[in-house]
Amino acid sequence: MCGIVGYIGEKDSKEILLKGLERLEYRGYDSAGIAVRNGDGITVFKEKGRIADLRGAVDGDVKGNTGIGHTRWATHGKPSRVNAHPHQNTSDRFTLVHNGVIENYHHLQRDYLAGVEMESDTDTEIIVQLIGRFVEEGLSTQEAFSKALKLMKGSYAIALLDAEEAQTIFVAKNKSPLLVGLGEDFNVVASDAMAMLQVTDQFVELMDKEIVIVRKDSVEILTLEGETVERAPFTAEIDMSDIDKGTYPHYMLKEIDEQPAVMRKIIQAYQGEDEKLTIKPEILDALQIADRLYIIAAGTSYHAGLIGKEYLEKMAGIPVEVHVASEFGYNMPLLSERPMFIFISQSGETADSRQVLVRIKELGFPSLTITNVAGSTLSREANHTLLLHAGPEIAVASTKAYTAQLAVLAILAAVTAEARGRDLGFDLIQEMGIVANAIQSQVDMKEEIEKLASDFLSTTRNCFFIGRLMDYFVGLEGALKLKEISYIQAEGFAGGELKHGTIALIEEGTPVIALATQESVNLNIRGNVKEVAARGANPMIISMEGQSEDGDSHVLPTVHELLTPLVSVIPLQLISYYAALHRDCDVDKPRNLAKSVTVE
Ligand code: M6R
Repeated sequence: MCGIVGYIGEKDSKEILLKGLERLEYRGYDSAGIAVRNGDGITVFKEKGRIADLRGAVDGDVKGNTGIGHTRWATHGKPSRVNAHPHQNTSDRFTLVHNGVIENYHHLQRDYLAGVEMESDTDTEIIVQLIGRFVEEGLSTQEAFSKALKLMKGSYAIALLDAEEAQTIFVAKNKSPLLVGLGEDFNVVASDAMAMLQVTDQFVELMDKEIVIVRKDSVEILTLEGETVERAPFTAEIDMSDIDKGTYPHYMLKEIDEQPAVMRKIIQAYQGEDEKLTIKPEILDALQIADRLYIIAAGTSYHAGLIGKEYLEKMAGIPVEVHVASEFGYNMPLLSERPMFIFISQSGETADSRQVLVRIKELGFPSLTITNVAGSTLSREANHTLLLHAGPEIAVASTKAYTAQLAVLAILAAVTAEARGRDLGFDLIQEMGIVANAIQSQVDMKEEIEKLASDFLSTTRNCFFIGRLMDYFVGLEGALKLKEISYIQAEGFAGGELKHGTIALIEEGTPVIALATQESVNLNIRGNVKEVAARGANPMIISMEGQSEDGDSHVLPTVHELLTPLVSVIPLQLISYYAALHRDCDVDKPRNLAKSVTVE
């Protein structure tokens, strides 16, 4: 949440910063700003709204070869120009951008900043005022920065300019991600390598509680105690074409279309030399030792976890619990004797999941992160990582990461099953190939699915999803997708549950989307559809060949019963996409949201 960029070099920094912010807009997009430094001092431009609005506010005549920028997802203080970053201290000497939440900002204000008038409602302004105050009291900028960092509790990624130290960007992080990018005669700062791929693919990872002094020809990493740290750069292996929309109107549609290719890529990535699916032995060993697995995740990743539980229990025979990350850390259930934790997170940065990881590490329990982002915080901090290989997912609504999570969980379960001597009774590689083709058939049916969206959802204010067994979990994901981008109030229910209360909401014409891909409960779900139809609902049945009936709205090709979620979710993704499009919603950047949720 919130994106940070910085540039120090010989070129005018404005365009590099603005382009970088455009790439980071997925992290927050309610206001934005940049600050550039030149011989005349530091000039700040900021605006409420998107980077496009900020562009309109930037004076092209003001140049500066050092600069920092920020795109915001509001936590403290509503989205407004005044609360947008960068923030400055009262004398305007210091200018700062921040991603994260300073939990003790009230105390810091009370204890150190009495009499200082704040311009904004943000916790961020406290940091820059604090640094200004400590410098007035006689500390150097670096000492003041370091002192402020030691006092701060919470999460932060910070880039700081000092009007009197033209050649430096001061940088630090704790819990929030931040990288320094290396170039010839310039260096950059970014929350995500994607932002600065335009100028470099060489990056240095920063660790919590370090101070980094970035100059145009050097990067010095120090601990808060002032000791030098050496760290080799890495090459960001992201293809520019992966992060461009190309000819697509929206990233979401592009990412939905990429899913067949992602399935094939995952199979390849997890195939060993003997062409069999393989998982690192140390991960398998850890799973073998565990007497119970605890899956921790949020949002779409949590929905993937619910299906992961089915895979790990049914294929590998290991008991699994699935927990919402934001609850688990504060209400931990009684754990088994030898628990192992699996974190599922597209971004690998979700703060709710990370707080659980920190806690279970303190307790000494082993952990595995399943993520799309190599080197992300959850990946670095867990004992083991499995990558999704889905390529960057930029639309806020998660699509290809969800199906990739299911595929990797299926592989993990299948390989674990084999290691435990359990016979699956089917060849997962072959079945995943069938799934890839089935997904392709769905993304090729956009016109039909768009028609379903407009027939059922164009004017509705609410919508229910029902399903049984794994269809129930896919329904939860379908409902999340629909509400998140089209703002239609949507809820997913187990087929038999609606009549225990919620059926009271069914009115003439209320859309109810029913998934019917689970053979053993086909008749039951059809019974549930009859119950709502009898009360005026407008049912849309999505079934599977071999289980379909006349009048079903959409019939999916058959795939292995355990893998149906990988296919049944595709029309739901497309229905959400078209419902949002027909309602003129901003598909890729829905209101109030951000792609990676790095605050608790
Ligand atoms: O990066 P993560 O997978 O940890 O993110 C978790 C959720 O914030 C995320 O899945 C969210 O629910 C999606 N935007 C839904 O489409």
